[in-house]
Amino acid sequence: MEAQFWHDRWTANQIGFHQTEINRHLQSYWSRLNAPKGSTIFVPLCGKSLDMLWLLEQGYRVFGVELSTLAVEAFFTENQLSAKQETVGAFTRWKLDELEIWCGDFFQLTAEDLSHVTAVYDRASLIALPPEMRQAYQQQLLSILPPQIAILLITLNYPQHLVKGPPFSVPEKEVYSLYQADFNIELLDRISEPAMPRFQEKGVDIIAEEIFSLTR
Ligand SMILES: C[S@@+](CC[C@H](N)C(=O)[O-])C[C@H]1O[C@@H](n2cnc3c(N)ncnc32)[C@H](O)[C@@H]1O
Repeated sequence: MEAQFWHDRWTANQIGFHQTEINRHLQSYWSRLNAPKGSTIFVPLCGKSLDMLWLLEQGYRVFGVELSTLAVEAFFTENQLSAKQETVGAFTRWKLDELEIWCGDFFQLTAEDLSHVTAVYDRASLIALPPEMRQAYQQQLLSILPPQIAILLITLNYPQHLVKGPPFSVPEKEVYSLYQADFNIELLDRISEPAMPRFQEKGVDIIAEEIFSLTR
């Protein structure tokens, strides 16, 4: 997915991926990662996710990265928060207390930027990317994260040949092929739900959400 695709989505406010409530799987399963309170949680491709507020409320520091300035602005404005902005290399860092959102390209982050991170929350990040970019995403993630890291990963699973993404289908088998060399993978839950109308029109009635813990 080219950067322009996402800029266009945000400009046109076509952000069906955004949830107006805190993700229930995050609330149910976050504790399984045993991330120490006070430590920093990385939220790749964070959009304007309210889940970052939930993590802050639980006593974590949050480090998000997001391509779209519109998304980052919306996050702070809609939550009546005011952040200090400064340029850090190729990024604009929006910072408020325990929260930092770096506006720029995930693929330009370095290991130094993320040296203090203990865990990752990946909802609608891996599945936002087409197959040819997912390997690059995994490689970048592993190359910039410290060794002792845990990931809560939420994916979708549906017959990809019937509908084009995003969101893309990332079946359990692919999660294993991407991450099993580096992590212990546990499928924590699989929830099948009626698919969104756009998918149903193409013959995909049911879509499964799969929640994984990746630990070392
Ligand atoms: C499907 S949305 C998910 C947003 C968020 N995780 C959520 O749960 O609402 C994917 C987001 O990734 C952002 N994005 C796409 N490519 C990116 C990149 N290379 N670096 C940073 N953000 C990116 C898009 O602008 C978009 O907001």
